[in-house]
Amino acid sequence: MSGTSPLFQPTTLGSLSLPNRLVMAPMTRNRAAADGTPTDLMAEYYAQRSAAGLIIAEATTPNAVGQTYPNIPALHLPRHVAGWRRVTEAVAEAGGRMFVQLQHGGRIGHPANSGLRPVAPSPVTFPEPVATPDGNRPAVVPRTMSLDEIESTVADFAAAARRAVDAGFAGVEVHGANGYLIHQFLADGTNHRTDAYGGSTARRMRFAVEVVRAVAAAVGPERVGLRLSPGFPGQGMSESDTDVLYPALVEELSGLGLAYLHLVWAKPDQPLYRRLRAAWPGALIANPAQPWPGPLPADGGRREAERLLDAGADLVSLGRAFLANPDLPERLAAGAPLNPVRIEHWYGGDHTGYTDYPTLRQPALA
Ligand SMILES: Cc1cc2nc3c(=O)[nH]c(=O)nc-3n(C[C@H](O)[C@H](O)[C@H](O)COP(=O)(O)O)c2cc1C
Repeated sequence: MSGTSPLFQPTTLGSLSLPNRLVMAPMTRNRAAADGTPTDLMAEYYAQRSAAGLIIAEATTPNAVGQTYPNIPALHLPRHVAGWRRVTEAVAEAGGRMFVQLQHGGRIGHPANSGLRPVAPSPVTFPEPVATPDGNRPAVVPRTMSLDEIESTVADFAAAARRAVDAGFAGVEVHGANGYLIHQFLADGTNHRTDAYGGSTARRMRFAVEVVRAVAAAVGPERVGLRLSPGFPGQGMSESDTDVLYPALVEELSGLGLAYLHLVWAKPDQPLYRRLRAAWPGALIANPAQPWPGPLPADGGRREAERLLDAGADLVSLGRAFLANPDLPERLAAGAPLNPVRIEHWYGGDHTGYTDYPTLRQPALA
């Protein structure tokens, strides 16, 4: 069944050789220690999923104030590097390859999580409650970032990227999607600045471009990916100029030689998606738009993944199907049934709903 599908054909990404075109999408699981240090349980979880062509490890904060939720991994202290090294070594030993996603939460955060007031391009409060160790709490008004803070935050992304490479990651994905800090700068719903970082499309793009350029200069562009979610309406986001903003941003970054562009909610028939594919000269990872929060299609998203490859994507990322199926490539190739996703264990907890999903070879693991 797998014989003819391009999903299971080897490919390359920069200097990496990938055994297939299935990428494990970044997924926050809130299993790091309270200080952001990755744990041995995380090493086990990622090693179990090392059959992915590429793993993109979950959103990881490049500095203290960027922390979103409780038990989010970090990359700003030596102990974070040491913890992540155990994860990358476990994945390499199991035959896998791994990037890590760098995410600054911006207005999505809480003093109860980071000890600090969240910062953002403008004082536009996140309209939803934020998870904290004491349960969901109302979001606080974020503090407006000064120009100095913007500069130091760009430097924090670059330093975190260096630490990621020290920790054994093959590269980093800059999180420009889903309503976090970089997206808050891009979108005019959350960016009301009147200085060099707000107003026109070009000025709202500036922070994203500076972060990507700084990270690429720090570790080499071939080790850097960027995740974007054009028009994403969740997390209180709104953009009045999606069709102008994203083509302009992609065009601006197209000459840097980045490892990849990663598009969320990718729809092969959508004109903007096709336009971005055409404008991006490098590898494109497409994350299909599947029912949210579920259930997933019975084929685990294989048909949709193949449609995206047909429409010009180089790789396809899947999230929930990898979360619940450590051996996802083998299952998709065989047309085997998938484990159902246990949503109640997504965010936080122990091994339950995390490392206890059975594989075809070890059906009794749970
Ligand atoms: C539990 C969970 C955590 C997630 N955390 C992140 C994250 O840290 N960073 C990110 O960019 N997307 C995150 N996402 C979104 C996924 O990367 C992916 O885009 C989404 O699940 C849709 O893909 P799917 O239909 O294959 O699951 C998360 C999704 C889930 C289910």
